Amino acid sequence: MTTPTTQPDIRSAVRERYGKIASEFKPKTQASCCGPSASASSGCCSSDSSDPVRLYETPEAADLPDDVTGLSLGCGDPITLASLQPGQTVLDLGSGGGIDCFLAARKVGPTGRVIGVDMTPAMLEKARTNKEKVGAENVEFRMGEIEHLPVADATIDVIISNCVINLSPDKPQVFREAFRVLKPGGRLAVSDMVSSGPIPEAIKSSLSAWAGCVAGAMDVTDYIGAIQSAGFTEINVTPVYLSKEMIDGALDQIGGQLVTDNPEDPIYKTVFSAKVTAQKP
Ligand SMILES: C[S@@+](CC[C@H](N)C(=O)[O-])C[C@H]1O[C@@H](n2cnc3c(N)ncnc32)[C@H](O)[C@@H]1O
Repeated sequence: MTTPTTQPDIRSAVRERYGKIASEFKPKTQASCCGPSASASSGCCSSDSSDPVRLYETPEAADLPDDVTGLSLGCGDPITLASLQPGQTVLDLGSGGGIDCFLAARKVGPTGRVIGVDMTPAMLEKARTNKEKVGAENVEFRMGEIEHLPVADATIDVIISNCVINLSPDKPQVFREAFRVLKPGGRLAVSDMVSSGPIPEAIKSSLSAWAGCVAGAMDVTDYIGAIQSAGFTEINVTPVYLSKEMIDGALDQIGGQLVTDNPEDPIYKTVFSAKVTAQKP
């Protein structure tokens, strides 16, 4: 049986899922978007709760407290991708528990600042508590949707995001907003789930598959087209293929009826993580 997937339905399924993850979170028991986990509160991609920061090339990730690293729900390392510089203003779309904001804050230093935007109240609460724990004075968390950013025009040097844009039911609008808030010459450095080829209909129409970062993965050609239509140039998308175990973990979270034992199932070759960069002229 399929579920209708309207924009409000998708937003509330996503908010509900990440609200539950935040409120049930206990340090050292958490996994995250594409991962196999016994925890009911898993989110989008770091599957191994014994090493929640393994997605990151940057060694600083391991120094953050468990309250932060345990809530790492991304599918890549936008911090390494962004090559941040001291003094920059950075915006994180869908900041979750704040991991990328805290890592970015160290890179931009006391003369720079970082704004994290998230639409889930319980997640924002965790991020704000984490900010106090980390002592990240140059980080601020704002409530809002990435399709309607609570950020002024042309004020941001670099936009980062980790496994969030795939959750949006209106990705072209997210890229238009990103373009609006970036300064001329500003950059986008995003890790996200995209697809290549059709996603099976049963998965596409499942709200829990949306919230689990699978159904919302947009075809990579359309994704690039949406970035381009927003006005960006120098667009680069590099695929980072996830292991079958990670995809299985995400499928497990979606629900038994969609789990497939067939290693030839198209889903294994269809949905993947990507490093995405683009520039506002
Ligand atoms: C998979 S988690 C990733 C969190 C964080 N980026 C990380 O790497 O740990 C997705 C986060 O994006 C937020 N989110 C999803 N869709 C959103 C939207 N349309 N607007 C704002 N926040 C959104 C969720 O509330 C959740 O905190």
